[in-house]
This record gives sequence, C-alpha cells and structure tokens, in this order.
Amino acid sequence: MPRRTTWLYVPGDQERKLAKAADLDTDVVCLDLEDAVAPDRKDAARGLVAQVLERQDFRAEVWVRVNALNTPWAEADLAMVGQVLPRVRGVLLPKVEAPWMVHRAAWHLALAEEAHGLQPGSVPLAVLLETPLGVLRAEVVAQASPRVQVLLFGAEDFAAALGAERTPQGQEVAVARQWALLTGKALGKQVIDMVYVAYRDLEGLRKEAEAAARLGFDGKQIIHPAQVPVVREAFTPAPERLAWAEKVWQAYQEARRSGQGVFVVEGKMIDPPLVLQARRLLERGGRL
Ligand code: COA
Ligand code: MG
Repeated sequence: MPRRTTWLYVPGDQERKLAKAADLDTDVVCLDLEDAVAPDRKDAARGLVAQVLERQDFRAEVWVRVNALNTPWAEADLAMVGQVLPRVRGVLLPKVEAPWMVHRAAWHLALAEEAHGLQPGSVPLAVLLETPLGVLRAEVVAQASPRVQVLLFGAEDFAAALGAERTPQGQEVAVARQWALLTGKALGKQVIDMVYVAYRDLEGLRKEAEAAARLGFDGKQIIHPAQVPVVREAFTPAPERLAWAEKVWQAYQEARRSGQGVFVVEGKMIDPPLVLQARRLLERGGRL
C-alpha cells in the first residue's frame, strides 16, 4: 500500500484552497464534502469538487470525503464521485457505524467501475471511526468489504458524541483511539491518527505526532499545509534508531546464514520480534 503519512483535508467549497492543494507535497489530499462544508453549501461544494477533479491534476493521491451514509447528501455525493471516478483514488466514509454503510458505498463504486471500464474492486474505501458505536463495531465495519484499506480515528466527533471534554493529554479518547489502532492492525489496514486542531501550535503537533508514530499509527490527519512537514518528520525514525535497525538487519542476514535464531547487537538480545521492529523502522525510513 502507498504511504499515507499525511492525510490533508481541503474544504470542498473553497476554491482557493482547492487550487492550492494541487501542488502540496502531502501523501493524501482529501477533498471534503462533510464537516468542512456548511449544510446550505453542500450542493455548491459537490459541484465545485466535481469540476476540480475533472480539470486539475494533483501531486498527491486524491480522496473524497462524502457525507455520512445516513444523511440526505450521501447518495448525491457518491453519484458525483462515480461520474469522475477515474480521477479519484479513494473514498472516505465518515461516521461509519454499520456494515450497510460500507456496502452502500461499495455498491456505488462497483457500478461506476463497470461504467468506466475500471477493474472491479479497484477503488478503495477508508472509514472514519468517530462515534462510540462506530468504534465498538470497528471490526465488522472494517471487514464489511475488501475495499476497506484504511481506518481513521476521529477524536473531535468522538468526544462530542461521548459528551467528553477534550484535553491536551487526550485521556478521554485514549481507549477509542487505541481500539481503532488495534483493530486496524489486527486486520492489516493502514491506521491514521486524529487531527491536531490547534494548527498554529506546531510544537504541540510534533509531540502528538511523535507519540502516534511510537504507538504504531501509519499517519495523521491534518488540516493545514504547515502541518505536513511536521507530521512527516515525526513519522520518520530518528537517525540513531535507523542506524540500530540497519545493524540488526545485517546481523540478522548473517545469523540466518549461520543458522542462529538469536543473536546479540549492542549488548542486547535480538530475536524475531526485534528483527520485525527493525524491519518496520527501515520501512518507515524508506530504507527497505
Ligand atoms: N488546504 C489547502 N490550502 C490551505 C488549507 C488546506 N486545508 N488550509 C490553509 N490553506 C492555505 C490558505 O488558503 C492560505 O493560502 P493563501 O495565503 O495563498 O491564501 C495558506 O494555506 C495559509 O493559510 P492560513 O491563513 O494560515 O489559514 P486560514 O486561516 O486560511 O485557514 C483553517 C485555517 C483551519 C480554516 C484551514 O486551514 C482549513 O480550512 N483547514 C481544513 C479544515 C477542514 O477541512 N476541516 C474538516 C476536516 S477535520
Ligand atoms: Mg467530523
């Protein structure tokens, strides 16, 4: 799967930001029809996003966040995506709480793939887990279709639904955030961490992103171009960690040749789980 460390939202009704998004060096640009767009602008945003998708090339992968499947806008959003499908990399479904929501979106994609002569099943889905029910049902939702490649955790909607107050420590969302991560990793999905809304506080973002990387998340949702380099850097392993990983990887190749299961690097025992940790670091650092 392609790297999706920086997942940047762009409000679907804001021409200037949509134009700006074309050249941004982010992994994903996610054109938003949902929370970034006010109810009375939904139709205008849908029309604008369709135009932008047809006319503008993006440096990043382009995803579209449609409105939740239990809202009056979702069908029109999915129909629009279907029309321009070859220009869209994937579709993000917000506030997913039940398999039928995934099935419904998958059905739209299947029809559109056929209409455009695309390979059946080739367009992936991402699902936002951001309600108590959605988090509890993460496993069935993620397994509702093989199209689901990415799980994202949404802290703000989750806290709101819970009646919790957000804090810098994030204790109020910790269990749900970890649950989303655990589920995604158990099922082999990419898992993308919550947004850091104080977008001018890049130091706070860096700390939260580094913690997310240590927990095992594959990336972070972001809302402002200035957040891109900070998140990318936080998800890049430190040089000392990479140097350690390379040593372990080399020692592992030698140990394999001489038939050893366990060996020592820098005075510490290395066995298969540590080899795997080293491998993950090298992957994250782009060395493998
Ligand atoms: N995508 C593309 N361009 C963006 C952008 C985004 N998400 N956020 C800001 N920019 C652009 C601005 O247009 C501006 O460019 P310009 O000077 O050429 O006009 C530049 O980056 C600097 O923006 P800035 O003035 O610092 O921010 P702002 O006050 O205009 O906007 C936000 C702040 C938070 C409203 C804005 O970043 C935003 O809309 N983020 C996305 C919100 C969203 O999609 N939320 C839903 C998902 S959680
Ligand atoms: Mg939301």
